[in-house]
Amino acid sequence: MKTMLNIALPKGRLGEKVYDMFEKADFPCPSIKENNRKLIFENEQAGVRFFWVKPSDVAIYVERGAADIGVAGKDILLEYRPDVYELLDLKIGKCDMAVAAKAGFNDDRKRTLTVATKFTNIAKAYYSTLGRDIDIIHLNGSIELAPILGLSDVIVDIVETGATLKENNLVVVEKFQPISARLIANKANFKFKNAVVEKIMEELAKLTENN
Ligand code: PRP
Repeated sequence: MKTMLNIALPKGRLGEKVYDMFEKADFPCPSIKENNRKLIFENEQAGVRFFWVKPSDVAIYVERGAADIGVAGKDILLEYRPDVYELLDLKIGKCDMAVAAKAGFNDDRKRTLTVATKFTNIAKAYYSTLGRDIDIIHLNGSIELAPILGLSDVIVDIVETGATLKENNLVVVEKFQPISARLIANKANFKFKNAVVEKIMEELAKLTENN
């Protein structure tokens, strides 16, 4: 039996774009477009098995070798620092990690700044480079509510179009980290399945020139 390459795709709109890139790179799996409840799809002839994973879980599958390769946002890689190889910037899913606050917010550096975020480690690292004392409030979503309700002074979150901030009367204080989707690989499997992974990397790299 042919060795299959296991590929973890981030479920959702970004994942569909990523799959299209694999298809163009000549690693197709047409059944993935037919069914929207199944999570695993394979094309034995092409030697690929794709699975839909919650975007923030892709790096876990790859780190533990349940997936050989996968696509994860740079935000997740910076936040969780999984022990994987980062092979390629796919140049899609582009956005920024940013600090945002209510319009007119003035940082009083004599006070500890309260920061609400899903990205605790990224926020800590950013403020530590500034030498700024902070108090982190970890939230799981709807981060924009925190400064509006006085739960925090600022938020650290992803900004893509800026629409969410605008609709909630918040403004960007600083964009400090560009984010995009990255091709990642399990370290051991990168060696075992090197030829096919290198081939995919090479083909996807050509396609990123258009992104
Ligand atoms: C992200 C982020 C913002 C929004 C920014 O949330 O947390 O809320 O997108 O996008 P915009 O600048 O284009 O408005 P996401 O949709 O990923 O959902 P989440 O709240 O589950 O993180």
